[in-house]
Amino acid sequence: MTIDTMYRAAPILPPAPTPRASQLGPFDFLRTLRRNPIETWTEAHFERPILSGRGLLGIGAVVSEPRAIRRVLLDNAANYRKDALQKRVLAPGLSNGLLTAEDDAWRMQRRALAPLFTPRIVTGFAGAMARNAEALASRWSHLRPGRVIDVQQHMARVTLDILGETIFSDGLERDPDEFMAAMSHFFATIGTLDLFDLLDFPDWVPRLAQLRSRSSISFFEAAVDAIIDRRKALIARDEPAPDDLLTLLLRAQDPQTGTGLSDTEVKANIVTFIAAGHETTANALTWALFLLSLSPEWSARLCVEAEQELDGPVTGLAERLVETRAVIEEAMRLYPPVASLSREAIGPDDLCGRRIRKGALVVISPYVLHRHALLWNRPNHFDPSRFLPGARETIDRYAYLPFGAGPRICIGAAFSIQEAVIVLATLMRRFDVRPVPGHIVEPIQRITLRPRGGMPLILQPRNGMA
Ligand code: HEM
Repeated sequence: MTIDTMYRAAPILPPAPTPRASQLGPFDFLRTLRRNPIETWTEAHFERPILSGRGLLGIGAVVSEPRAIRRVLLDNAANYRKDALQKRVLAPGLSNGLLTAEDDAWRMQRRALAPLFTPRIVTGFAGAMARNAEALASRWSHLRPGRVIDVQQHMARVTLDILGETIFSDGLERDPDEFMAAMSHFFATIGTLDLFDLLDFPDWVPRLAQLRSRSSISFFEAAVDAIIDRRKALIARDEPAPDDLLTLLLRAQDPQTGTGLSDTEVKANIVTFIAAGHETTANALTWALFLLSLSPEWSARLCVEAEQELDGPVTGLAERLVETRAVIEEAMRLYPPVASLSREAIGPDDLCGRRIRKGALVVISPYVLHRHALLWNRPNHFDPSRFLPGARETIDRYAYLPFGAGPRICIGAAFSIQEAVIVLATLMRRFDVRPVPGHIVEPIQRITLRPRGGMPLILQPRNGMA
């Protein structure tokens, strides 16, 4: 179905691959997994709470039963570690930052980094978020009304600008376009599952994608090294250091041992924050704008809310923009930026009566879970009202997992929700977006869930506003 036909249809059923009637054969499964993993899911995955058995990737289970998910991610989390495949895909870029570290190294870093994301610190970043959102709206106001823009690129730019300012205060110092091109290249290459990884070839066999992404990784590392060196010199000279995440990282200490982070850990976590926080938030915003382009009703509601709230105090803004937040949450339900979580069982376990063997791969897919027939009413329809106060509380905590759950829950969740809400409200106050007739939108999983080939939308200033 093309977008223009969907646009006229109500209720809104945004595009998604049709689940397969049956499991693919081994060759087609591998090919599809490499092309677009969300196309491998079958009808049974969206209908049954747990599917287990022996697959091409070994013995495993796809778990969409909230009680079982709670056991894997929280109650018996010590029995599950991030699996080797996931670490192979992420580790080349993120070395041993918080996202990929395990055991004591992870515990120490998590304790040291938790104070960087307290509500007080995150609220302190609202001003930087609002300033950068306003700068984007102002760039848009110079565009010809009715112009088609790739909103994915614009969201990637604004989220990178915000991370740049909140981590480094004075921005990335390098040309942001150059930085963004390297980042996107990095994701495009490491985000493709390597056949050698899927077939469990030993680590010493070079992966094509890793070789290709090496130059992007060196580019980041050189840029980040230079900034850290300058900041350390400033702190050493006892000059006042800016109030940003870098200063907090350089001063962070494990409260239990008083140990600070090594230089390598500081750098690994800066790269981790940018990599984990950039495309994820950009994609949440991109999908939200796409869904709003299909729904003039919600677009108008968000404009009214932004008019009422945006001129008030920046503190508490994300809490007051309830409808904007509901749209962001619904966008992350239908198109979760992190579409799949996976763990390896260290020892045997029992998940709601299903035996899990030692070494089994447990997959929890927010993409499947968020569209599961047993958990959601009209699961594939766009309906932000399910996240409005009153309805939101009825959603099972373990049925909605855009940020994961348990000890390894996303450390940047409050940061990115606040950011997405402020950016979306700022844009919707001044602009409306419309689908491009004939353009087919296709979600594709490349570490993050993004639209294949970008997200062209028609930009219209609201009457007399922009
Ligand atoms: C919409 C935006 C975001 C989404 C959807 C998202 C999603 C997630 C998810 C699902 C996990 C858990 C992975 C697992 O359990 O295997 C995670 C972990 C993590 N995220 Fe995010 N994230 C977002 C934004 C951010 C931001 C802005 C930052 C940092 C500034 C960040 C930093 C991290 C880190 C460091 C971890 C690892 C935490 C740990 O293992 O202790 N994320 N994220």
